[in-house]
Amino acid sequence: MSNHAAARAHTNIALIKYWGKKDTELILPMNNSLSLTLDHFYTDTSVTFDSSYTKDTFILNGKEIPNENVHKFLNIVREKAGISEFAKVNSTNHVPTTAGLASSASAFAALAAAASKASGMNLSRRDLSRLARRGSGSATRSIYGGFVEWQAGDNDLNSYAVPFIENVSWDIKMIAVVINSKPKKITSRAGMQTVVNTSPYYNSWIKEANRSIPLMKEAISKQDFTTMGELAEENAMKMHALNLSAHPHFSYFSPESIQVMNLVEELRSMGIECYYTMDAGPNVKIICLGKDTASITSFLQKNLPNTEVLVSSAGPGVQYLD
Ligand code: ADP
Ligand code: DP6
Ligand code: CO
Repeated sequence: MSNHAAARAHTNIALIKYWGKKDTELILPMNNSLSLTLDHFYTDTSVTFDSSYTKDTFILNGKEIPNENVHKFLNIVREKAGISEFAKVNSTNHVPTTAGLASSASAFAALAAAASKASGMNLSRRDLSRLARRGSGSATRSIYGGFVEWQAGDNDLNSYAVPFIENVSWDIKMIAVVINSKPKKITSRAGMQTVVNTSPYYNSWIKEANRSIPLMKEAISKQDFTTMGELAEENAMKMHALNLSAHPHFSYFSPESIQVMNLVEELRSMGIECYYTMDAGPNVKIICLGKDTASITSFLQKNLPNTEVLVSSAGPGVQYLD
């Protein structure tokens, strides 16, 4: 048995978002969510279990750092695999960490694949998705490529992602406008929990998200870009409205986020169809069709000369390396 494995997983951006847990220990979400896996951003992680190790070590981007979430996740893997060895985890993020660009999604999908294989398990993709979920909710979806739905379920066995359209033939692009790649002050985990506990609008959010999922799937199936973009933009703004309605209220918007959203609206009024979405961080993602990518990026660069603009297409599911 090999006690070493390495895997690569890509990030995903939700078009209908997960923003709240009904079980914080098992990470069971309040609603189904639907995302697009991106080809540009990913995490590579290698895991070695060895009986000579006296503790778990975690190295991120070449630097050893303590990480309680990684340690807790390794405990889950050891329990499932029936082993007791400590592990060395070496991870490289090809995505800004904790900046609202979904590093936790690619991170825990890659860790689930590498750690489960290194521990001697041979999990199906469904079971990998369930395992990744225990590290970070959004990681549930990063096991698969393309458009992916996380079926909320109500227990550990039935909460996992299913591919909706894995091989995407539609020329959809997601442009990440990197306003600030520094770690955010309020993690996704903390932000969504404050919202669940205190927002008076939480029930309406769940109702709206549940209503939007089938409409979004239909729009994607028909390649109806207008409906898809409008639904995604509305869903994102409803999520951010929850944050403003929480106690204490908070926001992930920076002045530049609003500037970028205004620029997207300006592009639309010029006849270039594109839509925005935002996650738990100030960076804005613009959804567009491949044919418009060049005009959108040059418009953004003209208006925001110092801002990095990164274009992604649909990306693949988790892969083993070595
Ligand atoms: P993001 O918007 O980047 O997903 P989150 O607040 O959801 O930010 O999650 C960040 C969490 O993910 C942090 O606890 C961070 O330590 C963890 N994380 C990021 N990258 C990795 C990695 N490569 N391996 C393990 N954990 C990681
Ligand atoms: C806004 O998966 O990062 O990106 O489950 O607590 O680790 P934890 O949170 P995380 O939350 C992602 C929130 C989001 C929307 C989404 O990806 O669906
Ligand atoms: Co995250």
